[in-house]
Amino acid sequence: MHSSLISPHGGTLTNLVVNQERAEELKELSRDWPSWDLTPRQLCDLELLTNGGFSPLRGFLCRNDYESVCEKMRLTDGTLWPIPIMLDVTEELAKSLGDGSILALRDAEGVMLATLNVEQIWQPDLMHEARQVFGTTNPEHPGIAYLQHSTNPWYVGGKLEVLHLPHHYDFMEFRHTPLQLREKFTTFGWHRVIAFQTRNPMHRAHQEITFRAAKEIEANLLIHPVVGMTKPGDVDHYTRVRCYMSILKHYPHHTAMMSLLPLAMRMGGPREAIWHAIIRKNYGCTHLIVGRDHAGPGSDSNGRPFYGPYDAQNLFKHYDGQLDIKMVPFRMMVYLAEQDAYVPEDEVPGGAQVKSLSGTELRASLADGREIPPWFSFPEVVKELRRTHPPRSKRGFTVFFTGLPSSGKSTLANVLMVKLLEAGGRPVTLLDGDIVRKHLSSELGFSKEHRDLNIQRIGFVASEITKNGGIAICAPIAPYDSIRKEVRQMVDGGGSFILVHVATPVEVCEQRDRKGLYAKARAGIIKEFTGISDPYEEPDDADVVLDTTDSSPEECVQAVILHLEKEGYIGPNG
Ligand code: PPS
Repeated sequence: MHSSLISPHGGTLTNLVVNQERAEELKELSRDWPSWDLTPRQLCDLELLTNGGFSPLRGFLCRNDYESVCEKMRLTDGTLWPIPIMLDVTEELAKSLGDGSILALRDAEGVMLATLNVEQIWQPDLMHEARQVFGTTNPEHPGIAYLQHSTNPWYVGGKLEVLHLPHHYDFMEFRHTPLQLREKFTTFGWHRVIAFQTRNPMHRAHQEITFRAAKEIEANLLIHPVVGMTKPGDVDHYTRVRCYMSILKHYPHHTAMMSLLPLAMRMGGPREAIWHAIIRKNYGCTHLIVGRDHAGPGSDSNGRPFYGPYDAQNLFKHYDGQLDIKMVPFRMMVYLAEQDAYVPEDEVPGGAQVKSLSGTELRASLADGREIPPWFSFPEVVKELRRTHPPRSKRGFTVFFTGLPSSGKSTLANVLMVKLLEAGGRPVTLLDGDIVRKHLSSELGFSKEHRDLNIQRIGFVASEITKNGGIAICAPIAPYDSIRKEVRQMVDGGGSFILVHVATPVEVCEQRDRKGLYAKARAGIIKEFTGISDPYEEPDDADVVLDTTDSSPEECVQAVILHLEKEGYIGPNG
């Protein structure tokens, strides 16, 4: 039926969904089986295993295939496959399984999506895998960070039987299985289809690449963005898809379409480029655009790139004869002002002036509310990005006061709240130590464990408020450094966490003793009292340090307000 389309990898497009009768049977039997709640990455992998995006795989890899993929980029039968697709589970679950066990795989809500016929259970050497697959063990590489912090220590391999694909309720008109996309290509009469892989919003340079590729190959274009998991910190897929939708209007009629790919990227650079090609081939594409640093994570904190800019293209060239799908390689595109055009960097005439804008520069311009030059992007795309990335003066933020009991935290937090409410524009929530302990943490005491839990809860609420554009003012003691840093991580999406150390000396605090608690602590009536019989770790990362001994609350709060103004959180309009 689809004879004119490219063959899937390995020859057959897999479909792991069982028929209705078998699904009912599995549901009935599953009562006695152990269960595993799939992680977000495993959920993405399951979807592509099920719908044939990962053809010819029929389940999570067993040990021999895993070792062969890591070492040689091939399954044991010789099929090219560069990235291990693994089901990682806890030791507790692994130890309860044996060969021949059946494992019910469930989504986050506990709905059974699939069953795994367990063939092998083993404990992998994750750093060995890291070296082989990513060529590094540097934890700054997101693929390594995932292996180190988010991967469970045991692997379980086996074949899958799937009851149904995970449901997606967003952008449903742009979601297709490989079979559905192949059917569309057939209906449209598209024989040559170039896939454009992306995890970023598309701007003029990207569009120019796709135009050039389509003309050069005389092919149709599939904009195929990844909407599963991408690099942490990327623009969310809702915003990106709205951007792509507006860009689609700039293509000649019936030449281009978009489909969303529920892939969990690994940021594996060259190996990932081969993987992307295999997946696109399964979706019926004949060509894949491979640009500069394809699927690479950029550079480490010393500015050293994890992969060379054209390593992915070179590896692709190496396997060219074995893949069927062809690469359309591109150099980095730069803007040539005198011609008002984008050209590959190696085609710039000598002495000509070129312009480019990095992702970091774009984010900074958005944060400061500066103009995004028209040569860089399309007005509709910029408008969309501005909606989700407003300037700092319209974003949420958290001011987190920390300090000893009676140091003045609550008073300053209250004054700051009133000043911000007076300025108006954003909702303000006060999470004072005492208030939180009454409403959120009433069952907790003052052990390190309980204090950390208390601060974690405050951090969670503050991060939700901040994410949704509000201002959170927190004022707990928060005596432990590591948990304060954890909260900064939790809240911080581009510097939106401001730590204020109220460093009033303990003698002054004790003299004030607003609640009479220091006296009780000295008398031994209150145990584990911060500053007397319990530690307070001074922050080394405070953005503002205040001492209320000789300054009025107004003076202290002014220092915080000036800091917020300097960082752009409060501007002329509030
Ligand atoms: S923590 O460590 O951040 O969880 O503490 P926090 O929730 O901010 O504490 C709130 C108030 O509890 C009172 N209190 C104590 N503080 C410290 N140690 C002990 N053992 C203790 N027992 C009760 C104290 O009044 C805290 O409020 P502030 O406003 O800091 O005086």
